[in-house]
Amino acid sequence: MHAYDAAEQVDNTIRLNANESPRRSTIGNFRRPLNRYPEVRPQKLQTALANRFGCRADQLLVTRGSSEAIDLVIRTFCRAGEDGVLVTSPSFSMYRHYAEVQGADLIEVETLAEHDFAIDVDAILAACKDSTRLIFICSPNNPTGTVLARDELERLLTERGDASAIVVDEAYIEFGDKPSVTELLGRYTNLLVLRTLSKALGFAGARCGAVAGPPEIVRILSAVQAPYALATPVVECVEDALQDDQLALAEAAVLDTVAERERLVVALANYDFVVKIWPSDANFLLVRFTDAATVMRRCEVQNVLLRHFGGALDDCLRISVGSPDENDQLLRALDTLKGTNNG
Ligand SMILES: Cc1ncc(COP(=O)(O)O)c(C=O)c1O
Repeated sequence: MHAYDAAEQVDNTIRLNANESPRRSTIGNFRRPLNRYPEVRPQKLQTALANRFGCRADQLLVTRGSSEAIDLVIRTFCRAGEDGVLVTSPSFSMYRHYAEVQGADLIEVETLAEHDFAIDVDAILAACKDSTRLIFICSPNNPTGTVLARDELERLLTERGDASAIVVDEAYIEFGDKPSVTELLGRYTNLLVLRTLSKALGFAGARCGAVAGPPEIVRILSAVQAPYALATPVVECVEDALQDDQLALAEAAVLDTVAERERLVVALANYDFVVKIWPSDANFLLVRFTDAATVMRRCEVQNVLLRHFGGALDDCLRISVGSPDENDQLLRALDTLKGTNNG
């Protein structure tokens, strides 16, 4: 695959090669003119994000959220009706969604519920078929908060070798104390790492994420991605978000979230209708209740929305860690269930 042959963009030239409007709008306060197409791939942003994520610029493709990276990777690696994707369960449902969109085969491997939903690398290796091109590992895992140990990941990378790429989704990495596995990029040619600005950096609305991997794979993913994928307002917003002062604010917000997460763990443990709170390296907690449906409904009535998944997690709810006020509101909603025999 070759990159789309876009109109040349050269500074200080008269651009009559891209059918753009010559009229510069006064809407918005952007550094770059909105009547011009953005860069096909935003170079400055790519370098800044590569620095942040611990890889080289040629090992990174900036995407519209990591959601787009999931879609791109599956479309690039899987021929419809022939190749397949392996996911663990329970995990983030978007891997399954995009595998279905592509018509890729899907293998689901249960995590070990009795061991805090640990990822079972032996079971994954046993379940792989010759056609399994991608293995998605979400670490910390959404919605269980579980992390895959580094040596287990390396076992998976080594055992699958050229047969499958291992896609490690690190959407929540900043909320734990483990380093990113981008450190391993130089050692494994079948490792891809997904990162996002939607969680720790607080820019879900900007839709910006990235996939890191070997340069030759990144080049192909880039050829598959839409030209001009990142809009000028997004590029400028994220460039600003990556300035030192903004990063310091984001880092403080992560520390606040972690402190609130630990406060919630202590507070939740006091309710007799809370059965189990799983350890979490993310910005959410998975909690088992004696009656999850009642808790969910009562919170909803009190204007607090929680997430229910069903299946193996039918009696559980995922609670995102909010601001101190929002978390207090959650606890007040739960207080109304005290002594109601809802369990
Ligand atoms: C594990 C995981 N990966 C990826 C995403 C997608 O994030 P985004 O597309 O906003 O980068 C999410 C969103 O909740 C997620 O939980």
